[in-house]
Formats: sequence, structure tokens, C-alpha cells
Amino acid sequence: MTDQSPPIADFQLITRTGDEAGQKTTYGIPLAVLAELTHRCPLQCPYCSNPLEMEVASAELTTAEWCRVMDELAEIGVLQIHFSGGEPAVRKDLVQLVRHATRVGLYSNLITSAVMLTKARLQELADAGLCHVQISVQGSESRVADRVGGFKNGHVKKLQVAAWTREVGLPLTINAVMHRQNLHQLPEIIDMAVALDADRLEVANVQYYGWALKNREALIPTFAQVETTNQIVAEAQDRLAGVLDIDYVVPDYYAQRPKQCMGGWGRQFFNISPSGKVLPCHAAESITGMEFDSVRGNKSIRWIWDNSEAFNKYRGTGWMPEPCQSCEFKEIDFGGCRCQAFALTGSADNTDPACAKSDLHAQIFARATTESAEAQDRFIYRNFAGGAVEAEEL
Ligand code: FES
Repeated sequence: MTDQSPPIADFQLITRTGDEAGQKTTYGIPLAVLAELTHRCPLQCPYCSNPLEMEVASAELTTAEWCRVMDELAEIGVLQIHFSGGEPAVRKDLVQLVRHATRVGLYSNLITSAVMLTKARLQELADAGLCHVQISVQGSESRVADRVGGFKNGHVKKLQVAAWTREVGLPLTINAVMHRQNLHQLPEIIDMAVALDADRLEVANVQYYGWALKNREALIPTFAQVETTNQIVAEAQDRLAGVLDIDYVVPDYYAQRPKQCMGGWGRQFFNISPSGKVLPCHAAESITGMEFDSVRGNKSIRWIWDNSEAFNKYRGTGWMPEPCQSCEFKEIDFGGCRCQAFALTGSADNTDPACAKSDLHAQIFARATTESAEAQDRFIYRNFAGGAVEAEEL
């Protein structure tokens, strides 16, 4: 998925309580599920949230398997499906899948790079019942945007598809993934979202795991950039109230409090990979040593959500070490991000170093400051071969 940010919309917290080490855990079946239809994508964004080892086309769930999955999701009470990737429009059966989602009563959202869509296909998707389109952008103009996405003429195509989206009557969200090399374009990106008649803009600073971690030196913003961004976003949120909703994800390394990642592990969200693995988050496979059940196995999705080791491992608060365990915010941030704790400390059991209470917080703040000042700007583009280093500018 090129846009880095699985949409955590509203969730159905049908309260269920478990007991972990004497502590209550409340969770329900999530209202929304992220369906990664494929890891194939024409773009090569250096911060892609897909795993470094991507799943090949021959491993992908078939049309019939996705339809069976959607039947099951609808039966257990899931209400929304977010079709994502890779690029979901690579799948020739996308219209069929959207039509099936509509048939079983799921609200469907398409998270797309847009570059493979035509107006006719968008119309077919709208006719099949698609409810919403989310288009990722890499900058405010072609020079920066096409370089970041590693795809020539992509930006112009995205603008065209965004206009078609509104013409066929679908609501539009623009997802802008921000980092050191495009943050200077944020004011123009905000104007662009208004001009495109988007309902919502996600200003999502890159989160550093997977491909983004591999590219951290080229992406991490300076502290001064972050302070400026905070002001730009706050001013735009005020000025555009009622015109454009702006969601903002701050960069973790400079934060004081960790983010409530995925709304809490195994609490509000799950993800299905192209080959059918049921994951607590899009980056969960970066945590080595964890096993994930598949929709191709003999267990139901409901069973996997309620009982699998992967979903229960970091659910609730019982698993938490100190200082999380005695922290007054533990039921607010649920310990932050497990994938980031693993990436930065080698164990997902540890406190997320994005938290100021972590012993490592000062270190990651210092690392971000140093790396952003060194300005190593060349990307390692995402591809199935483990990445391609950007050619030097002549
Ligand atoms: Fe996996 Fe945060 S991305 S828990």
C-alpha cells in the first residue's frame, strides 16, 4: 500500500471482555478491515507500508476466495472493506470484488495510486457500488511527486483521476504522505486538495518500519520542519473548517507520546494480506518469530480474531512492561506501536521508544536530528527484488 496509512475509521466496539494477568481487556469485532488485494504496484514509493518481502501474484487469493472472505466478514458484523495493495486496480477482478462487497452489504473504499484507472473503469466501480475513493499523492507538482513515486507522469494522471472521481459522483480523500523531501510543498498540497473538491485530506508523516525504515535517512524531517508543519496544519484546519477535513499524523521520533497504533493491537482493526494472512496491522510481519493464521486454513476469521496467538499477544494491557504497566496513559495509547518497538529495540515486548518515558527516547530523537541534518537524499525504491537505489542526478 503506497499511502502508509490504513484507514482507521469508526469502529464498532461491541464490548467483549477478556482477562489478561487479572486486567480487563475490551475489544470487539472491528467495523473496518483492510484488504490488501495485491502487493503489485507500478509505483515504487520508498516508504511503502508493504513488507520488504512482498507476496507474488501467484500467491494471491483468487476472486472466489476474496468473495468467501467478504461473506465471512459480513456475517461476523464487519461493515467496511478498504481495498488496498500494492495497487488494487492491478487486479482485473476489482469491479467484481466491489460488486460482491455491495451484495453482502459492505461499505467499500478504494485506496489507490490512481495511475491505472480510466474514467470508464471508475464509472464501472461506481456502478458496482463503490462508496469512496482515496488517492495518494507524493507532492504538489510532477517534479517532486514523480521522483518520490518513481513513476513518470504519475502526478498528472492522479490529478485527472481525482477529477473523474468527483465527476462520477464519488467522495474523495487525498492522502499525502509527508517527509523531509516534500514537506515544503504542504501548503500547495492543501490548496490542491481543495481545488480537487476532496472531502478529506490526510497529512500523514511517514512512519518508520519496512521500506520507510530502509529509507529513513532520506525521509526523516528536521525538527524545524515538524514545527512549521504543525503550524501549517493547525492554521489550515481552522481556515478550512466545513470545507476540507484535515487529519494529521505527526512523526513519531519527535513526539512526546506514542501514537495509539491501529487503535490498540487486536482491538479495533485487522488486515488481510494478498495471500490471505490475517494480521493485526499492515506491518505485523516485520516482527520476526510471530505466526499468522490464514483465511486459507481451517479456522474462521472470527476464531482467528478471538483466539489466535498473534492477536492475543499484545492485546489489552496485561502484556505491558514498565514503565507502560503503571502509566496513566496505558489505556489511551495501548503502548504505542509494536512494530516500531521491534524495529528500534529488537523486541516487540518493549516500550515504544516514541514515548518520552522510554529509556531510548532521547536516543531516537538525537538520531532523527542527526540523520535529517546529514541530508542523504537518495531513495531506495520499493520493488520485488529488495529495492533499487535511485540513480544519481547528472
Ligand atoms: Fe504494527 Fe504499529 S504498525 S503495531
